[in-house]
Amino acid sequence: MTTAIVKTARPQLRFALAELLSIYSDAKGLQTGGKLCHGGAELSERVSTRARTSREHGVYSEPDLIWLHKGRPSWKFYILPDAQVLRKLTPKPGFADSVIICADPSDNLGFIEPARLLEALAEGFAPIDSLKVRSLARDVSAIPVPRLDSQFDGLVLENNQFIKDHHSLRVRTGLVQRPTPGQFLQVMCDPAPHAQSPRYRRHARSDRHWPKLSGLELLGQRPFLRRPFSVASYGPSSRRSTSYGSDHPGMDVVRLINWMEPELEVVYRRLPEGPGTSALAKYASGDKINIVGPLGKGFTFFPKPKVALLVGGGIGAPPLNLLAEELLNCGVEVRMFLGAVTRSRLPFELRGVRKDKVKMFERMRLNHIVCTDDGSAGRRGLVTQPLAEYLESHRDSLRSSRIFACGPRPMLAALSGLADHYNIPCEALLEERMACGFGACISCVCAVKAPGQKARFTRICTEGPAFDVRTVMWHA
Ligand SMILES: Cc1cc2nc3c(=O)[nH]c(=O)nc-3n(C[C@H](O)[C@H](O)[C@H](O)COP(=O)(O)OP(=O)(O)OC[C@H]3O[C@@H](n4cnc5c(N)ncnc54)[C@H](O)[C@@H]3O)c2cc1C
Ligand code: FES
Repeated sequence: MTTAIVKTARPQLRFALAELLSIYSDAKGLQTGGKLCHGGAELSERVSTRARTSREHGVYSEPDLIWLHKGRPSWKFYILPDAQVLRKLTPKPGFADSVIICADPSDNLGFIEPARLLEALAEGFAPIDSLKVRSLARDVSAIPVPRLDSQFDGLVLENNQFIKDHHSLRVRTGLVQRPTPGQFLQVMCDPAPHAQSPRYRRHARSDRHWPKLSGLELLGQRPFLRRPFSVASYGPSSRRSTSYGSDHPGMDVVRLINWMEPELEVVYRRLPEGPGTSALAKYASGDKINIVGPLGKGFTFFPKPKVALLVGGGIGAPPLNLLAEELLNCGVEVRMFLGAVTRSRLPFELRGVRKDKVKMFERMRLNHIVCTDDGSAGRRGLVTQPLAEYLESHRDSLRSSRIFACGPRPMLAALSGLADHYNIPCEALLEERMACGFGACISCVCAVKAPGQKARFTRICTEGPAFDVRTVMWHA
């Protein structure tokens, strides 16, 4: 009997493993079973590996113990919430006679990245090989520790220029925290800012510490600091497997892994003089990209409005896409107002003779209006104009509406005036220049003043970037 203990506090992984093992055993004709092991006591009743509830115990759960067997060797997978439960379950040394896999970096039982474990198990439905799993478990130091809210290495799926100077960067993320619309990422734009310096290579050979910052790193043209970008979309990966046909049972596993490892999209404008965005445009699919995030405080949409008026200016518009998706899912009526100086500054693919429709929003059946200052796409004029017309014509029903915006500062300042005039709540993302992105450098401050309080400076990266426009001192 070979026993593997998979220890994780993450319900997502528990569920995924239960699913994965069910698929595996179906394909291999193995017998499977599951048990619930609450508080360290193995409950006697057996549950199906697919069962997610135990009516007798009034709990909703995936099984904690799954076993597979067909002759020898047999495998048991214990999926446990924490080390305490593990200790209760292992009164005798040798209980776990082969592998302890810890999928949670906070304990030092050994660590394996969950995605890697799943990939290893899924690989061509090969019989699970104890040696392989053992070596994966031993290979601890080589695997970056995924943290739920901070730094991760994403896999670039696509980095395409879809219209002039505008790129869509799609990244497969691993297990990261779901971003709230309006939150941002600090992206390492240079594919290898340090690795290519001889100083770093020398250092990397000698020990595993990061090199000191001086000389080459600071004098070079490399964008050493990360650059902030908003999340434009986030969801299950749409990646297709080339190795399996769609009806192959392996496809289920691929889909499962895709579901476990969602992808996120950043839409960015490559600035002609910008070292960061120019370096970012060089990433190709298959590259690893280092990202910190999601960071900051995104939009708040509780209490839920009946109608959401989304106002985007230029490259400020992409985060409104994620917001629109979330609001539509919550049953909110969404109206989008998009503006830019000229057509080439609108970060969307347009359609129609007057280029007044955005392809993506048409697919989402989203009511939207496009404006440009010079009339090269949609209506001529500032985006605040159609918004003001809408607010005027719906004056009586604005109580359950709310404005969400992102764009250039003058546009946001004008919105603040409209929000005041029509007494409608309005939140806006302030996209100031940032260095650290998490509150350490104080390079992103802005002046705010809440009603009845003194004016003060605040850090946009931690208290924002979403702010109630009426608290921001636009002309300070
Ligand atoms: C929270 C947040 C979210 C953002 N989201 C996106 C996004 O989704 N897509 C996107 O394309 N850009 C976004 N930006 C702006 C993006 O961070 C900058 O375009 C990028 O850092 C420029 O880097 P660079 O090295 O290419 O140019 P830099 O050399 O840093 O700058 C080149 C020129 O652009 C100006 N500039 C740089 N950053 C800003 C800024 N934040 N506001 C106004 N002018 C600036 C500089 O003054 C300079 O003139 C966001 C910024 C913030 C703070
Ligand atoms: S970017 Fe460093 S404090 Fe905000």
